[in-house]
Amino acid sequence: MTDQPKKPFLYVVVCAAGNAGDVGKLITAAQEQRWDVGVIATPQGLGFVDADALTSLTGRPIRSAWRRPDVTSPFPPADAMVVAPATFNTINKWAAGIADTLAVATLCEAYGAGVPTAVLPSVNAALSLHPAYRESVERLRAMGVLFGTEEDFRWEHALELLAPAVGRAVGR
Ligand SMILES: Cc1cc2nc3c(=O)[nH]c(=O)nc-3n(C[C@H](O)[C@H](O)[C@H](O)COP(=O)(O)O)c2cc1C
Repeated sequence: MTDQPKKPFLYVVVCAAGNAGDVGKLITAAQEQRWDVGVIATPQGLGFVDADALTSLTGRPIRSAWRRPDVTSPFPPADAMVVAPATFNTINKWAAGIADTLAVATLCEAYGAGVPTAVLPSVNAALSLHPAYRESVERLRAMGVLFGTEEDFRWEHALELLAPAVGRAVGR
């Protein structure tokens, strides 16, 4: 029997943006960097992804709704989280602490649990000028959340953003 060290676990939170269907690229890149991955989609985001393909890619069911109290979570605790693509709606709710979906509730807990979190926003120029969005981004940055940019949306960028923080968190 080999004595492989346990892989770190990455939660990938997927929102309802037009590019969500390509999130498999992020998952594959993370797996190549030795992450185990679990996907949490927002309820709207579920309609933007191929759930069967992502289940097969990660080897775990996609989560979106809360589990029943008598059911065990199918995911271990997260060592890091990525929100990609991240919508205007989810970013604003997360910053405001409105935990009305499993996805946002999980993100809200990441701060208190000290879990490194990176975000790739998919927010168009008009929405990004809304004052609430600007304040949300500022607040999340102050909480230590690591932001990519809409102009340079690359799936691998999320892993690059996490790298320095994750080395500390999982003792790499
Ligand atoms: C085809 C399509 C593409 C969308 N793309 C985006 C997007 O890139 N960014 C965004 O903030 N909202 C986008 N939306 C709107 C969101 O889906 C909508 O605000 C939704 O409520 C977000 O839910 P969620 O944040 O819980 O995933 C899109 C909607 C549609 C129908």
